Amino acid sequence: MPPLAGGPHADLDRRDCAEAVSETKKTDADVTTAPDERDILLRVEGLQKHFPIRKGVLQRQVGAVKAVDGIDFEVRKGETLGVVGESGCGKSTMGRVITRLQEPTGGSIHFEGQDITRLNAAGMRPLRRDIQMIFQDPYGSLNPRHTIGGIVSAPFRLQGVEPEGGVKREVQRLLELVGLSPEHYNRYPHEFSGGQRQRIGIARALALKPKLVVADEPVSALDVSIQAQVVNLMDDLQEELGLTYVIIAHDLSVVRHVSDRIAVMYLGKIVELADRTSLYEAPMHPYTKALMSAVPVPDPKRRGAKSERILLRGDVPSPISPPSGCRFHTRCWKATEICKTTEPQLVELRPGQRVACHHPENFADQAPQDTVLLSVAKEAAELVAEEVRAESAKTSAAVAAVAAGSAEETGAEAAGKTADTAEKPEAEVAADVEATGAKTGPGAKTAPAAPLKTGEATTEPETERQDPTDK
Ligand SMILES: Nc1ncnc2c1ncn2[C@@H]1O[C@H](COP(=O)(O)OP(=O)(O)O)[C@@H](O)[C@H]1O
Ligand code: SF4
Ligand SMILES: [Mg+2]
Repeated sequence: MPPLAGGPHADLDRRDCAEAVSETKKTDADVTTAPDERDILLRVEGLQKHFPIRKGVLQRQVGAVKAVDGIDFEVRKGETLGVVGESGCGKSTMGRVITRLQEPTGGSIHFEGQDITRLNAAGMRPLRRDIQMIFQDPYGSLNPRHTIGGIVSAPFRLQGVEPEGGVKREVQRLLELVGLSPEHYNRYPHEFSGGQRQRIGIARALALKPKLVVADEPVSALDVSIQAQVVNLMDDLQEELGLTYVIIAHDLSVVRHVSDRIAVMYLGKIVELADRTSLYEAPMHPYTKALMSAVPVPDPKRRGAKSERILLRGDVPSPISPPSGCRFHTRCWKATEICKTTEPQLVELRPGQRVACHHPENFADQAPQDTVLLSVAKEAAELVAEEVRAESAKTSAAVAAVAAGSAEETGAEAAGKTADTAEKPEAEVAADVEATGAKTGPGAKTAPAAPLKTGEATTEPETERQDPTDK
Protein backbone atom coordinates (compact mmCIF):
# COMPACT_ATOMS: atom_id res chain seq x y z
CA MET A 1 0.00 0.00 0.00
CA PRO A 2 1.56 3.31 -1.00
CA PRO A 3 1.84 5.86 1.77
CA LEU A 4 -0.99 8.33 1.96
CA ALA A 5 -0.44 11.67 0.28
CA GLY A 6 2.86 12.97 1.57
CA GLY A 7 2.01 13.98 5.15
CA PRO A 8 4.60 14.14 7.88
CA HIS A 9 3.54 10.72 9.10
CA ALA A 10 4.03 8.92 5.83
CA ASP A 11 7.38 7.67 7.07
CA LEU A 12 5.72 6.27 10.18
CA ASP A 13 3.38 4.11 8.22
CA ARG A 14 5.89 1.40 7.75
CA ARG A 15 7.26 1.48 11.27
CA ASP A 16 6.91 -1.55 13.39
CA CYS A 17 3.92 -1.01 15.65
CA ALA A 18 5.54 -2.60 18.64
CA GLU A 19 8.81 -0.76 18.18
CA ALA A 20 7.09 2.58 17.68
CA VAL A 21 5.02 2.09 20.78
CA SER A 22 7.81 0.83 22.99
CA GLU A 23 9.63 4.14 22.55
CA THR A 24 6.82 6.03 24.18
CA LYS A 25 5.29 3.54 26.59
CA LYS A 26 5.82 3.78 30.27
CA THR A 27 7.80 1.10 32.01
CA ASP A 28 5.99 -1.76 33.70
CA ALA A 29 7.02 -0.37 37.09
CA ASP A 30 5.20 2.86 36.18
CA VAL A 31 1.98 1.12 35.40
CA THR A 32 1.92 -1.43 38.22
CA THR A 33 2.47 1.04 41.04
CA ALA A 34 -0.58 2.82 42.40
CA PRO A 35 -0.85 6.25 40.80
CA ASP A 36 -0.90 9.55 42.64
CA GLU A 37 -4.38 11.07 42.61
CA ARG A 38 -2.98 14.00 40.59
CA ASP A 39 -1.92 11.59 37.84
CA ILE A 40 -5.47 10.40 37.32
CA LEU A 41 -7.37 12.01 34.48
CA LEU A 42 -10.58 10.02 34.66
CA ARG A 43 -11.98 7.97 37.52
CA VAL A 44 -15.02 5.77 37.11
CA GLU A 45 -16.74 4.18 40.10
CA GLY A 46 -19.64 1.72 40.06
CA LEU A 47 -20.63 2.92 36.59
CA GLN A 48 -23.89 1.52 35.26
CA LYS A 49 -25.81 1.97 32.05
CA HIS A 50 -29.09 0.11 31.84
CA PHE A 51 -31.32 0.54 28.80
CA PRO A 52 -34.96 0.15 29.85
CA ILE A 53 -37.16 -2.29 27.97
CA ARG A 54 -40.70 -0.98 27.72
CA LYS A 55 -43.86 -2.70 26.63
CA GLY A 56 -47.55 -2.05 26.10
CA VAL A 57 -49.56 1.09 25.49
CA LEU A 58 -48.40 2.60 28.74
CA GLN A 59 -44.80 1.80 27.89
CA ARG A 60 -44.23 0.24 31.26
CA GLN A 61 -40.66 -0.81 31.97
CA VAL A 62 -40.52 -4.59 31.98
CA GLY A 63 -36.78 -5.04 32.22
CA ALA A 64 -33.45 -3.54 31.27
CA VAL A 65 -30.46 -4.28 29.10
CA LYS A 66 -27.63 -4.11 31.60
CA ALA A 67 -25.03 -3.01 29.09
CA VAL A 68 -22.63 -1.68 31.73
CA ASP A 69 -23.30 -3.03 35.18
CA GLY A 70 -21.00 -1.60 37.80
CA ILE A 71 -17.46 -0.98 36.66
CA ASP A 72 -14.54 0.75 38.37
CA PHE A 73 -11.36 1.93 36.73
CA GLU A 74 -9.13 4.94 36.36
CA VAL A 75 -7.33 6.39 33.37
CA ARG A 76 -3.95 7.91 34.12
CA LYS A 77 -2.60 10.99 32.43
CA GLY A 78 -0.67 10.17 29.27
CA GLU A 79 -1.49 6.47 29.25
CA THR A 80 -3.39 4.30 26.82
CA LEU A 81 -5.98 2.10 28.44
CA GLY A 82 -7.13 -0.69 26.14
CA VAL A 83 -10.62 -2.12 26.64
CA VAL A 84 -11.33 -5.52 25.13
CA GLY A 85 -14.09 -8.10 25.12
CA GLU A 86 -16.40 -9.89 22.73
CA SER A 87 -19.08 -8.07 20.85
CA GLY A 88 -22.00 -7.11 23.10
CA CYS A 89 -19.93 -6.87 26.30
CA GLY A 90 -20.75 -3.19 26.73
CA LYS A 91 -17.51 -1.62 25.54
CA SER A 92 -19.08 0.98 23.25
CA THR A 93 -21.71 1.85 25.83
CA MET A 94 -18.96 2.36 28.39
CA GLY A 95 -17.14 4.65 25.91
CA ARG A 96 -20.26 6.69 25.23
CA VAL A 97 -21.08 7.02 28.91
CA ILE A 98 -17.62 8.13 30.05
CA THR A 99 -17.63 10.78 27.32
CA ARG A 100 -21.14 11.69 28.52
CA LEU A 101 -22.67 11.10 25.10
CA GLN A 102 -25.05 8.87 27.05
CA GLU A 103 -26.38 9.37 30.56
CA PRO A 104 -25.16 6.90 33.16
CA THR A 105 -27.80 5.00 35.14
CA GLY A 106 -25.63 4.79 38.23
CA GLY A 107 -22.14 5.30 39.58
CA SER A 108 -19.85 8.26 39.12
CA ILE A 109 -17.41 9.74 36.62
CA HIS A 110 -14.72 12.19 37.72
CA PHE A 111 -12.63 14.06 35.16
CA GLU A 112 -9.57 15.85 36.55
CA GLY A 113 -11.13 15.52 39.99
CA GLN A 114 -14.42 17.15 38.90
CA ASP A 115 -17.62 15.12 39.22
CA ILE A 116 -19.10 15.16 35.71
CA THR A 117 -21.64 12.37 36.26
CA ARG A 118 -24.71 14.56 36.25
CA LEU A 119 -23.51 17.67 34.43
CA ASN A 120 -26.12 18.97 31.99
CA ALA A 121 -25.35 20.02 28.41
CA ALA A 122 -24.32 23.52 29.46
CA GLY A 123 -22.08 22.15 32.19
CA MET A 124 -20.50 19.67 29.79
CA ARG A 125 -19.89 22.29 27.09
CA PRO A 126 -16.42 23.40 28.22
CA LEU A 127 -15.50 19.75 28.81
CA ARG A 128 -16.39 18.83 25.25
CA ARG A 129 -13.06 20.34 24.27
CA ASP A 130 -11.17 18.11 26.65
CA ILE A 131 -12.96 14.83 25.97
CA GLN A 132 -13.32 13.62 22.41
CA MET A 133 -14.40 10.41 20.74
CA ILE A 134 -13.24 8.64 17.58
CA PHE A 135 -15.81 6.28 16.15
CA GLN A 136 -15.53 2.87 14.58
CA ASP A 137 -17.20 3.55 11.27
CA PRO A 138 -15.21 6.00 9.16
CA TYR A 139 -18.00 5.92 6.55
CA GLY A 140 -20.99 6.64 8.77
CA SER A 141 -19.28 9.13 11.07
CA LEU A 142 -18.49 11.72 8.36
CA ASN A 143 -21.38 13.66 6.84
CA PRO A 144 -21.20 12.95 3.09
CA ARG A 145 -22.63 16.38 2.20
CA HIS A 146 -19.92 18.31 4.03
CA THR A 147 -16.42 18.99 2.75
CA ILE A 148 -13.42 17.80 4.73
CA GLY A 149 -12.78 21.42 5.70
CA GLY A 150 -16.35 21.72 6.97
CA ILE A 151 -16.11 18.49 8.94
CA VAL A 152 -12.78 19.17 10.63
CA SER A 153 -13.68 22.78 11.40
CA ALA A 154 -17.03 21.86 13.00
CA PRO A 155 -15.61 21.67 16.55
CA PHE A 156 -14.34 25.28 16.23
CA ARG A 157 -17.76 26.48 15.12
CA LEU A 158 -19.59 24.53 17.81
CA GLN A 159 -17.32 25.77 20.57
CA GLY A 160 -17.02 29.29 19.15
CA VAL A 161 -13.23 28.99 19.05
CA GLU A 162 -11.14 31.09 16.66
CA PRO A 163 -7.72 29.51 16.41
CA GLU A 164 -4.67 31.66 15.84
CA GLY A 165 -4.16 32.15 12.09
CA GLY A 166 -7.81 31.36 11.32
CA VAL A 167 -9.89 28.22 11.10
CA LYS A 168 -8.88 27.26 7.57
CA ARG A 169 -5.19 27.39 8.33
CA GLU A 170 -5.66 25.38 11.50
CA VAL A 171 -7.71 22.75 9.69
CA GLN A 172 -5.04 22.44 7.02
CA ARG A 173 -2.43 22.06 9.73
CA LEU A 174 -4.52 19.31 11.32
CA LEU A 175 -4.89 17.54 7.97
CA GLU A 176 -1.12 17.56 7.61
CA LEU A 177 -0.73 16.35 11.16
CA VAL A 178 -2.74 13.23 10.39
CA GLY A 179 -0.89 12.55 7.15
CA LEU A 180 -3.33 14.09 4.68
CA SER A 181 -2.74 16.93 2.27
CA PRO A 182 -3.99 20.47 3.04
CA GLU A 183 -5.29 20.38 -0.55
CA HIS A 184 -7.98 17.97 0.63
CA TYR A 185 -9.78 20.83 2.36
CA ASN A 186 -12.49 21.19 -0.29
CA ARG A 187 -12.96 17.53 -1.09
CA TYR A 188 -15.82 15.28 0.06
CA PRO A 189 -15.65 12.11 2.19
CA HIS A 190 -16.59 9.78 -0.69
CA GLU A 191 -13.32 10.69 -2.41
CA PHE A 192 -11.32 9.05 0.37
CA SER A 193 -10.47 5.51 1.37
CA GLY A 194 -11.45 4.04 4.74
CA GLY A 195 -8.01 4.70 6.23
CA GLN A 196 -8.01 8.30 5.02
CA ARG A 197 -11.51 8.82 6.40
CA GLN A 198 -10.40 7.56 9.76
CA ARG A 199 -7.54 10.09 9.61
CA ILE A 200 -10.14 12.80 8.97
CA GLY A 201 -12.09 11.58 12.02
CA ILE A 202 -8.88 11.74 14.06
CA ALA A 203 -8.16 15.30 12.81
CA ARG A 204 -11.67 16.34 13.87
CA ALA A 205 -11.25 14.75 17.29
CA LEU A 206 -7.92 16.54 17.82
CA ALA A 207 -9.09 19.97 16.62
CA LEU A 208 -9.71 21.35 20.10
CA LYS A 209 -6.58 19.81 21.64
CA PRO A 210 -8.42 17.34 23.87
CA LYS A 211 -6.90 15.78 26.96
CA LEU A 212 -8.76 12.48 26.67
CA VAL A 213 -9.59 10.66 23.44
CA VAL A 214 -11.89 7.67 23.58
CA ALA A 215 -11.51 5.65 20.39
CA ASP A 216 -14.18 3.02 19.80
CA GLU A 217 -12.76 0.30 17.57
CA PRO A 218 -10.80 2.90 15.60
CA VAL A 219 -9.30 0.43 13.15
CA SER A 220 -11.62 -2.55 13.08
CA ALA A 221 -13.54 -1.32 10.02
CA LEU A 222 -10.27 -0.90 8.12
CA ASP A 223 -8.34 -3.25 5.96
CA VAL A 224 -5.65 -4.96 8.03
CA SER A 225 -2.90 -3.41 5.93
CA ILE A 226 -4.18 0.05 6.90
CA GLN A 227 -4.76 -0.80 10.55
CA ALA A 228 -1.07 -0.59 11.42
CA GLN A 229 -0.77 2.82 9.76
CA VAL A 230 -3.64 4.30 11.73
CA VAL A 231 -2.44 2.71 14.97
CA ASN A 232 1.04 4.15 14.39
CA LEU A 233 -0.44 7.55 13.65
CA MET A 234 -2.47 7.55 16.86
CA ASP A 235 0.54 6.48 18.83
CA ASP A 236 2.67 9.21 17.33
CA LEU A 237 0.06 11.86 17.98
CA GLN A 238 -0.15 10.75 21.58
CA GLU A 239 3.52 11.48 22.03
CA GLU A 240 3.42 14.79 20.16
CA LEU A 241 0.30 16.13 21.80
CA GLY A 242 0.46 14.47 25.22
CA LEU A 243 -2.86 12.71 24.72
CA THR A 244 -4.49 10.15 26.96
CA TYR A 245 -6.34 7.36 25.19
CA VAL A 246 -9.01 4.85 25.98
CA ILE A 247 -8.92 2.48 23.02
CA ILE A 248 -11.76 0.02 22.66
CA ALA A 249 -11.24 -3.07 20.54
CA HIS A 250 -12.55 -6.60 20.24
CA ASP A 251 -9.21 -7.56 18.75
CA LEU A 252 -6.51 -8.19 21.33
CA SER A 253 -3.76 -7.94 18.75
CA VAL A 254 -4.58 -4.26 18.16
CA VAL A 255 -4.78 -3.41 21.84
CA ARG A 256 -1.60 -5.27 22.65
CA HIS A 257 0.58 -2.88 20.68
CA VAL A 258 -0.94 0.36 21.87
CA SER A 259 -1.91 -0.12 25.50
CA ASP A 260 -0.09 0.53 28.74
CA ARG A 261 -2.87 -1.19 30.65
CA ILE A 262 -5.77 -3.31 29.50
CA ALA A 263 -9.27 -3.82 30.92
CA VAL A 264 -11.07 -6.99 29.88
CA MET A 265 -14.86 -6.70 29.83
CA TYR A 266 -17.41 -9.45 29.96
CA LEU A 267 -21.15 -8.85 29.98
CA GLY A 268 -21.07 -5.36 31.44
CA LYS A 269 -18.31 -6.02 33.97
CA ILE A 270 -14.55 -5.62 34.07
CA VAL A 271 -13.17 -9.07 34.83
CA GLU A 272 -9.48 -8.25 34.68
CA LEU A 273 -7.46 -5.05 34.62
CA ALA A 274 -3.70 -5.19 34.38
CA ASP A 275 -0.64 -3.75 32.73
CA ARG A 276 0.03 -5.06 29.26
CA THR A 277 2.93 -7.34 30.14
CA SER A 278 1.19 -9.05 33.06
CA LEU A 279 -1.97 -9.52 31.07
CA TYR A 280 -0.23 -11.09 28.12
CA GLU A 281 2.35 -13.08 30.01
CA ALA A 282 0.28 -14.22 32.97
CA PRO A 283 -3.45 -13.65 32.48
CA MET A 284 -5.36 -14.54 35.62
CA HIS A 285 -8.98 -14.55 34.54
CA PRO A 286 -10.10 -17.60 32.56
CA TYR A 287 -11.92 -15.33 30.10
CA THR A 288 -8.75 -13.32 29.47
CA LYS A 289 -6.92 -16.55 28.92
CA ALA A 290 -9.49 -17.69 26.38
CA LEU A 291 -9.37 -14.34 24.56
CA MET A 292 -5.58 -14.44 24.52
CA SER A 293 -5.40 -17.92 23.19
CA ALA A 294 -7.58 -16.86 20.27
CA VAL A 295 -4.98 -14.29 19.19
CA PRO A 296 -3.01 -15.70 16.29
CA VAL A 297 0.75 -15.72 16.71
CA PRO A 298 2.09 -13.26 14.12
CA ASP A 299 5.75 -14.10 14.50
CA PRO A 300 6.58 -16.73 11.85
CA LYS A 301 9.39 -18.10 14.03
CA ARG A 302 6.99 -18.75 16.88
CA ARG A 303 4.16 -19.89 14.67
CA GLY A 304 5.40 -23.45 14.60
CA ALA A 305 5.71 -23.56 18.38
CA LYS A 306 3.33 -25.90 20.10
CA SER A 307 0.50 -24.15 21.79
CA GLU A 308 -3.20 -24.62 22.09
CA ARG A 309 -6.20 -22.50 21.73
CA ILE A 310 -9.19 -22.38 24.01
CA LEU A 311 -12.32 -22.21 21.93
CA LEU A 312 -15.19 -20.95 24.04
CA ARG A 313 -18.52 -22.53 23.29
CA GLY A 314 -21.71 -20.59 22.92
CA ASP A 315 -22.44 -16.89 22.73
CA VAL A 316 -22.21 -14.17 25.30
CA PRO A 317 -25.45 -14.54 27.36
CA SER A 318 -28.08 -11.82 27.23
CA PRO A 319 -27.33 -8.71 29.27
CA ILE A 320 -31.06 -8.53 30.05
CA SER A 321 -30.76 -11.36 32.56
CA PRO A 322 -27.07 -12.08 33.06
CA PRO A 323 -26.10 -15.38 34.72
CA SER A 324 -26.04 -15.42 38.52
CA GLY A 325 -22.79 -15.23 40.47
CA CYS A 326 -19.89 -14.95 38.07
CA ARG A 327 -21.38 -13.99 34.72
CA PHE A 328 -18.83 -16.12 32.93
CA HIS A 329 -19.82 -19.32 34.75
CA THR A 330 -21.99 -20.58 31.88
CA ARG A 331 -18.93 -20.68 29.60
CA CYS A 332 -16.07 -21.20 32.03
CA TRP A 333 -14.27 -24.52 32.10
CA LYS A 334 -13.33 -23.98 35.76
CA ALA A 335 -16.75 -23.04 37.12
CA THR A 336 -17.74 -24.51 40.48
CA GLU A 337 -20.78 -24.06 42.69
CA ILE A 338 -19.52 -20.85 44.27
CA CYS A 339 -19.14 -19.32 40.79
CA LYS A 340 -22.86 -19.82 40.26
CA THR A 341 -23.92 -18.32 43.56
CA THR A 342 -21.40 -15.63 44.49
CA GLU A 343 -20.22 -12.82 42.30
CA PRO A 344 -16.42 -12.50 42.49
CA GLN A 345 -15.20 -8.98 43.23
CA LEU A 346 -12.48 -7.26 41.22
CA VAL A 347 -9.53 -7.43 43.61
CA GLU A 348 -5.85 -6.73 43.22
CA LEU A 349 -4.23 -10.15 43.35
CA ARG A 350 -0.83 -8.97 42.14
CA PRO A 351 0.53 -5.42 42.10
CA GLY A 352 -1.37 -3.63 39.36
CA GLN A 353 -3.38 -6.72 38.38
CA ARG A 354 -7.04 -6.74 39.38
CA VAL A 355 -9.07 -9.89 38.77
CA ALA A 356 -12.64 -10.98 39.46
CA CYS A 357 -12.48 -14.76 39.77
CA HIS A 358 -12.84 -17.40 42.48
CA HIS A 359 -10.35 -19.70 40.80
CA PRO A 360 -7.83 -17.45 39.04
CA GLU A 361 -5.10 -18.74 36.80
CA ASN A 362 -1.51 -18.66 38.01
CA PHE A 363 -2.59 -17.86 41.56
CA ALA A 364 -3.86 -19.40 44.77
CA ASP A 365 -7.51 -20.35 44.73
CA GLN A 366 -9.82 -17.72 46.15
CA ALA A 367 -12.44 -20.34 47.11
CA PRO A 368 -10.41 -23.31 48.31
CA GLN A 369 -13.31 -25.16 49.90
CA ASP A 370 -15.11 -25.47 46.61
CA THR A 371 -13.85 -28.27 44.43
CA VAL A 372 -16.71 -29.73 42.42
CA LEU A 373 -16.87 -28.56 38.84
CA LEU A 374 -20.24 -27.54 37.49
CA SER A 375 -21.48 -29.81 34.75
CA VAL A 376 -21.60 -26.84 32.39
CA ALA A 377 -17.87 -26.39 32.88
CA LYS A 378 -17.19 -29.76 31.33
CA GLU A 379 -18.69 -28.60 28.07
CA ALA A 380 -17.64 -24.99 28.23
CA ALA A 381 -14.54 -24.93 26.13
CA GLU A 382 -12.49 -27.09 23.91
CA LEU A 383 -8.84 -27.31 23.14
CA VAL A 384 -7.82 -26.83 19.54
CA ALA A 385 -4.41 -27.85 18.30
CA GLU A 386 -1.93 -25.31 16.96
CA GLU A 387 -2.32 -26.32 13.30
CA VAL A 388 -5.88 -25.01 13.31
CA ARG A 389 -4.54 -21.58 14.11
CA ALA A 390 -2.29 -21.42 11.07
CA GLU A 391 -5.06 -19.98 8.88
CA SER A 392 -6.05 -17.23 11.29
CA ALA A 393 -2.40 -16.44 11.94
CA LYS A 394 -2.10 -15.25 8.34
CA THR A 395 -4.19 -12.18 9.05
CA SER A 396 -2.11 -11.18 12.02
CA ALA A 397 1.09 -11.91 10.16
CA ALA A 398 -0.06 -9.52 7.44
CA VAL A 399 -0.53 -6.73 9.98
CA ALA A 400 2.89 -7.37 11.46
CA ALA A 401 4.50 -7.54 8.03
CA VAL A 402 2.95 -4.28 6.92
CA ALA A 403 3.84 -2.58 10.18
CA ALA A 404 7.41 -3.74 9.83
CA GLY A 405 7.55 -2.56 6.23
CA SER A 406 8.37 -6.01 4.98
CA ALA A 407 9.46 -5.91 1.34
CA GLU A 408 7.85 -9.19 0.40
CA GLU A 409 4.46 -8.49 1.87
CA THR A 410 3.49 -5.02 0.76
CA GLY A 411 0.27 -3.45 1.90
CA ALA A 412 -1.46 -4.08 -1.40
CA GLU A 413 -0.55 -7.72 -1.37
CA ALA A 414 -1.61 -8.15 2.21
CA ALA A 415 -4.81 -6.29 1.51
CA GLY A 416 -5.69 -8.73 -1.24
CA LYS A 417 -5.11 -11.67 1.05
CA THR A 418 -7.01 -10.37 4.00
CA ALA A 419 -9.67 -8.10 2.60
CA ASP A 420 -12.31 -10.74 3.27
CA THR A 421 -11.74 -10.70 6.97
CA ALA A 422 -11.18 -6.97 7.18
CA GLU A 423 -14.35 -5.96 5.45
CA LYS A 424 -16.59 -8.30 7.39
CA PRO A 425 -18.55 -7.25 10.41
CA GLU A 426 -17.31 -8.59 13.74
CA ALA A 427 -20.02 -11.21 13.99
CA GLU A 428 -19.09 -12.77 10.65
CA VAL A 429 -15.42 -12.84 11.45
CA ALA A 430 -16.21 -14.54 14.76
CA ALA A 431 -18.34 -17.06 12.86
CA ASP A 432 -15.42 -17.70 10.51
CA VAL A 433 -13.17 -18.38 13.43
CA GLU A 434 -15.67 -20.85 14.82
CA ALA A 435 -15.98 -22.45 11.39
CA THR A 436 -12.20 -22.81 11.13
CA GLY A 437 -12.32 -24.81 14.32
CA ALA A 438 -15.20 -26.92 13.03
CA LYS A 439 -13.62 -27.54 9.62
CA THR A 440 -10.67 -29.36 11.04
CA GLY A 441 -12.77 -32.23 12.32
CA PRO A 442 -12.24 -34.38 15.34
CA GLY A 443 -8.66 -35.23 14.40
CA ALA A 444 -7.56 -31.71 15.13
CA LYS A 445 -8.86 -31.69 18.65
CA THR A 446 -6.57 -32.84 21.36
CA ALA A 447 -8.39 -34.71 24.06
CA PRO A 448 -6.24 -34.21 27.12
CA ALA A 449 -5.24 -37.44 28.74
CA ALA A 450 -4.26 -35.94 32.06
CA PRO A 451 -6.82 -34.84 34.63
CA LEU A 452 -7.90 -31.23 34.48
CA LYS A 453 -5.50 -28.73 35.95
CA THR A 454 -5.94 -25.06 36.38
CA GLY A 455 -4.86 -23.37 33.22
CA GLU A 456 -5.98 -26.17 30.94
CA ALA A 457 -9.15 -26.32 28.95
CA THR A 458 -10.75 -29.62 28.24
CA THR A 459 -13.84 -31.37 27.06
CA GLU A 460 -13.00 -34.37 29.19
CA PRO A 461 -15.65 -35.02 31.85
CA GLU A 462 -14.17 -34.21 35.20
CA THR A 463 -15.59 -34.11 38.67
CA GLU A 464 -12.74 -32.90 40.83
CA ARG A 465 -11.02 -29.61 40.30
CA GLN A 466 -7.45 -29.81 41.37
CA ASP A 467 -5.68 -27.45 43.67
CA PRO A 468 -4.37 -24.70 41.41
CA THR A 469 -1.18 -24.47 43.36
CA ASP A 470 -0.49 -28.11 42.61
CA LYS A 471 1.59 -27.73 39.46
N1 LIG B 1 -29.33 2.23 22.80
C1 LIG B 1 -29.45 0.97 23.20
N2 LIG B 1 -30.63 0.47 23.58
C2 LIG B 1 -30.77 -0.79 24.03
N3 LIG B 1 -29.75 -1.66 24.12
C3 LIG B 1 -28.54 -1.22 23.76
C4 LIG B 1 -28.29 0.10 23.27
N4 LIG B 1 -26.98 0.24 22.99
C5 LIG B 1 -26.41 -0.94 23.27
N5 LIG B 1 -27.34 -1.82 23.73
C6 LIG B 1 -27.10 -3.20 24.16
O1 LIG B 1 -26.11 -3.17 25.16
C7 LIG B 1 -25.25 -4.29 25.03
C8 LIG B 1 -23.83 -3.81 24.91
O2 LIG B 1 -23.68 -3.16 23.66
P1 LIG B 1 -22.34 -2.44 23.22
O3 LIG B 1 -21.98 -1.46 24.25
O4 LIG B 1 -22.54 -1.94 21.85
O5 LIG B 1 -21.30 -3.65 23.25
P2 LIG B 1 -19.89 -3.80 22.51
O6 LIG B 1 -19.42 -2.45 22.09
O7 LIG B 1 -19.02 -4.46 23.53
O8 LIG B 1 -20.14 -4.70 21.35
C9 LIG B 1 -25.73 -5.06 23.82
O9 LIG B 1 -26.54 -6.12 24.27
C10 LIG B 1 -26.53 -4.06 23.06
O10 LIG B 1 -27.55 -4.68 22.34
S1 SF4 C 1 -13.61 -19.88 37.71
FE1 SF4 C 1 -15.59 -19.23 38.43
S2 SF4 C 1 -15.33 -17.12 39.08
FE2 SF4 C 1 -13.58 -17.64 37.79
S3 SF4 C 1 -14.19 -17.01 35.74
FE3 SF4 C 1 -14.71 -19.16 35.92
S4 SF4 C 1 -16.82 -19.12 36.57
FE4 SF4 C 1 -16.02 -17.09 36.97
MG1 LIG D 1 -18.88 -1.77 20.19
